[in-house]
Amino acid sequence: MSDAQASETAEKPKTDAYYCEVPSQPCAIVMFGASGDLAQRKLLPALYDLAFHACLAPRFRLVGFSRTKMDDAEFRRKSAEALSKAKAPEANDNRRGEFLEHLQYFTGDYDDPEAFRRLAERLNALDNEAQLGGNRLFYLATPPEIYLKIIEQLGKAGLARPKSDKSWTRVIIEKPFGRDQDSARALNEKLLSVFDESQVYRIDHYLGKETVQNLLVFRFGNGIFEPLWNRNYIDHVQITAAESLGVERRAAFYESAGAMRDMIQSHVLQLTSLVAMESPATFDATSVRNEKIKVLQSIRPFTADAIWKYVVRGQYSAGQEDGKPVVGYRQEPGVKPDSPTETFVAMKLLVDNWRWSGVPFYLRTGKRLKKGISEIVIRFKPAPHKVFRGESTELNSIVLNIQPDEGISLSFGAKAPGGQMHISPVTMDFQYRATFGGVSREAYSTLINDCIRGDATLFDRADSVEAAWALVDPILKAWQGASAPPFPNYPAGSEGPRAADDLAVSEGRHWRPL
Ligand code: BG6
Repeated sequence: MSDAQASETAEKPKTDAYYCEVPSQPCAIVMFGASGDLAQRKLLPALYDLAFHACLAPRFRLVGFSRTKMDDAEFRRKSAEALSKAKAPEANDNRRGEFLEHLQYFTGDYDDPEAFRRLAERLNALDNEAQLGGNRLFYLATPPEIYLKIIEQLGKAGLARPKSDKSWTRVIIEKPFGRDQDSARALNEKLLSVFDESQVYRIDHYLGKETVQNLLVFRFGNGIFEPLWNRNYIDHVQITAAESLGVERRAAFYESAGAMRDMIQSHVLQLTSLVAMESPATFDATSVRNEKIKVLQSIRPFTADAIWKYVVRGQYSAGQEDGKPVVGYRQEPGVKPDSPTETFVAMKLLVDNWRWSGVPFYLRTGKRLKKGISEIVIRFKPAPHKVFRGESTELNSIVLNIQPDEGISLSFGAKAPGGQMHISPVTMDFQYRATFGGVSREAYSTLINDCIRGDATLFDRADSVEAAWALVDPILKAWQGASAPPFPNYPAGSEGPRAADDLAVSEGRHWRPL
């Protein structure tokens, strides 16, 4: 091989998104809420992907725990269907069959000590039978109101402590983590009376998305962007998490949550932290999370005035999705006909620190918008002096596309061909798919794999969950205390309510069109 060939090979990016150097340690995974939507749609396919790609130990065992009565065979059949629906990969060596054989089912009530005593027995038996080394992962994928009960019973059954000093016990908790700061604090207190913080993995699946992780590499693995990443060069930041889907079959949950709790408190504020944080000293859980929380603590709290001025809520009326008519939120099954629940939020934040002083962060999220797209736009200040006629003030931006077309684009002005000095906006694009090929690893696979390997970098810590609630609580309280908003105020399939546009336009800026 010539030197040139060798260096080409060395630089070739690893394109197997699921590649793991070694399989993880054997363990038992207890999935609470195993018959539910999240477990079936996301978690089982994610685990299967890990098993399929040999990231998961061949000796793992999964115990699905739910109230629904079912036997092992029925659970395996249901899980096989879930894998087919998720278009899980198949090979001709019966990998899917083997995975399914490792699944078991356990019917029990979440507050029944006897059920947890039997669960402990079952886990001990599995340890012996499959030599799992006593390693256990409890995954709480039930409705959130059940978390406290499960945590208490795990504690009482002696399941929260590692079985021996060579084994580990971890717990993953799904969002929403509380519904305000008080309930999040109560949940943290309960959790930490039973588990140690180092055992707790609060999951936010946005952090497992390939492009969200790439934001850290983009900022801190390159020398050329970070010097510009501050108030001297950046005019403002836009963070969008737009969905074209409606509330689907989740009205019961969504009616008591709304877009602020469902998306802003978690995913969108996570993205804000990653965009705004300082460089961590090292890429480990403590350093990264120490930097992220500083951002949340630096966001200017919302005063009563600021809430009404800088936060916009919306709710969709009937309209279209992909050219097909769809009903309004209040007509969705399970939604109250006069529901005040917001399906859209746009807001402006200020981060009061040296790096970001005076730079607005515009955030927006909503259901049934024109397009499903999540992106971060960094809009740079214009050149300080205009040399060319007709020059736009908005030539330079970096767009980080989180989904669906994962990638990064940089836009700038170029001379349009011809005798005149006309500037035309152009872009330089990096597309994940074109460069690395294949598909990205599913966020849930990444995060479950990290948890099994004991890496909490991409999980949330108690203090930052509470800090995020501290920020949104006053807004939720103000909304609750005010008279019902004039909902609905944007048609399905649109860019959101007019007031959201006004928020940016009133400050001489505008949202990037969806
Ligand atoms: C979930 C919210 O956390 O994230 C859902 O509860 C939302 O309402 C979903 O649809 C969006 O995630 P993704 O990965 O589809 O963008």
